[in-house]
Amino acid sequence: MAADRMDRKEFLSLLGLGAAAMTCSYFLAGCTPNSSNLITAPPTNVDFTLNLTDPANAALKNNGGYIYQNGIIVARTINGDYVAVSQTCTHQGGTVYYDKAGNEFHCPVHGSNFATNGSVINGPAASPLMKYSTSLSGTSLRVYS
Ligand code: FES
Repeated sequence: MAADRMDRKEFLSLLGLGAAAMTCSYFLAGCTPNSSNLITAPPTNVDFTLNLTDPANAALKNNGGYIYQNGIIVARTINGDYVAVSQTCTHQGGTVYYDKAGNEFHCPVHGSNFATNGSVINGPAASPLMKYSTSLSGTSLRVYS
């Protein structure tokens, strides 16, 4: 056999090794950091206005409703106050939602809870959610840094 050629047994052996390597890398990918679990920095220089008559913002007409906009969760609390915090959990980047039963933001990934001002109620998250100011004028809700 020429030095630059391989026999069938050698070829199949390498093929099997390649398939095994691909399989291992596929399963290992689930255990290693990737872009989906990197924490996105909270939005900065925020200043946008929501039209509360827009159907896309209909959830904010009722206490307990919330929407996501520009990386921020805007909620109308059970008390009727508008609050806005970064939607990205400070633990490992899960997306928080407003839990009206507890009047808090909850991350479903590992169970962190945050007060409506973004402070940590319980971990594993150790850092607060970035909080933004809100200002209501008629049917316009401004959200800003
Ligand atoms: S990513 Fe939110 S608690 Fe872990």
